[in-house]
Amino acid sequence: MASFKTLDDIDVRGKRVLLRADLNVPVKAGVVTDGTRIERLAPTIAALIDKGAKVIVMSHFGRPKGGPDPALSLRPLIAPLEKAIAGQKVAFAADCIGDEAKRVVEALQPGQVALLENLRFHKGEEANSPDFARALAELGDIYVDDAFSAAHRAHASIAALAGLLPAVAGKLMEAELKALTAALECPTRPVLAIIGGAKVSTKLDLLQFLIGKVELMTIGGAMANTLLLAEGKEVGGSLCELDMAETARQILALARERNCRLILPEDAIVAPELAPGVRTREVGIDAVPHDAMILDIGPKTVARISAILEEARTLVWNGPLGAFETPPFDRGTIAVAKKVGELTQAGRLLSVAGGGDTVAALAQAGAAEELSYVSMAGGAFLEWLEGRELPGVAALTAVANH
Ligand code: 3PG
Ligand code: MG
Repeated sequence: MASFKTLDDIDVRGKRVLLRADLNVPVKAGVVTDGTRIERLAPTIAALIDKGAKVIVMSHFGRPKGGPDPALSLRPLIAPLEKAIAGQKVAFAADCIGDEAKRVVEALQPGQVALLENLRFHKGEEANSPDFARALAELGDIYVDDAFSAAHRAHASIAALAGLLPAVAGKLMEAELKALTAALECPTRPVLAIIGGAKVSTKLDLLQFLIGKVELMTIGGAMANTLLLAEGKEVGGSLCELDMAETARQILALARERNCRLILPEDAIVAPELAPGVRTREVGIDAVPHDAMILDIGPKTVARISAILEEARTLVWNGPLGAFETPPFDRGTIAVAKKVGELTQAGRLLSVAGGGDTVAALAQAGAAEELSYVSMAGGAFLEWLEGRELPGVAALTAVANH
């Protein structure tokens, strides 16, 4: 793993620590609907409090257009953040730079916490502006990056700022990087990749990179339909990308060439349309009716994937295997998630999963806690699975190698 420094490598006592978090959590009518990212960040804040740091939390939230937008204020995050750190008070600065931010930071005592307003209220954040990064750097003595899920963004608080202050990884960043490294850089083999989701076109780079890295790959979700079609199968009225046929054939050829065993669905659950309570049928993959849609993997495919899971020692998983948000088309994904959980708990599999839909599916299956690691990242997890260098990780490693 690329080397980077962590909280253990620095003395933060009495220092102002600028903590880049990812508080980009789902909020409805001012209420956080999924606080997992906050809970996973909390141990880093707690450790900093413990060590007597002055903790200054900064984050983006949503996608404002480079100016203040009251609907995207981080204020609703104050209370959930306080709750996550055992009720300790969190001060708030209504601007993330300038006099207002300085005033709030100057009032902090060691062991106290402040939250700065949405970084994206300034154009300089997304532009990775050196001036904006300098304005942030004025507020701190040390930079801690705990936002792996935003590490694919070369933004000022992630990239430029890391070069201006002593920079280290927070606990969550450290955990993410360790898990991802264990899964793909130096894994116990064979490695299985389970890839699902709607479109081949959005996961092309990922498929190409992973085919060169893993011995086993199973593909589900609507993207499997595109591959099945390229193999000459009839997919009826299923969602698929007709214009990707040639690309799909190239992927199948690449898998053969690289000795990656590709496992496609051998049966499916079909229905006339994607709707709750619709009448379903279980069919072999060679018998998909003209007027039916493939909406989930069938029981034979589940059994096949379970058998492959028994063989695998390491798993990376991204994407559901069926239309899991509409029951009963969640069954295939849930059955596979349960099997992954069991094997992991039995010490027979190291399992790493990530991506918004995947995490939701695992939670629905009650298996999220049973995996070795579930990443908090969506886009960053995907880019990592594409073999891309993430600016947020690169910035920390560059600093460590100074
Ligand atoms: C995320 O939620 O995926 C990260 O916070 C990144 O957000 P962004 O896609 O708006 O950059
Ligand atoms: Mg996103």
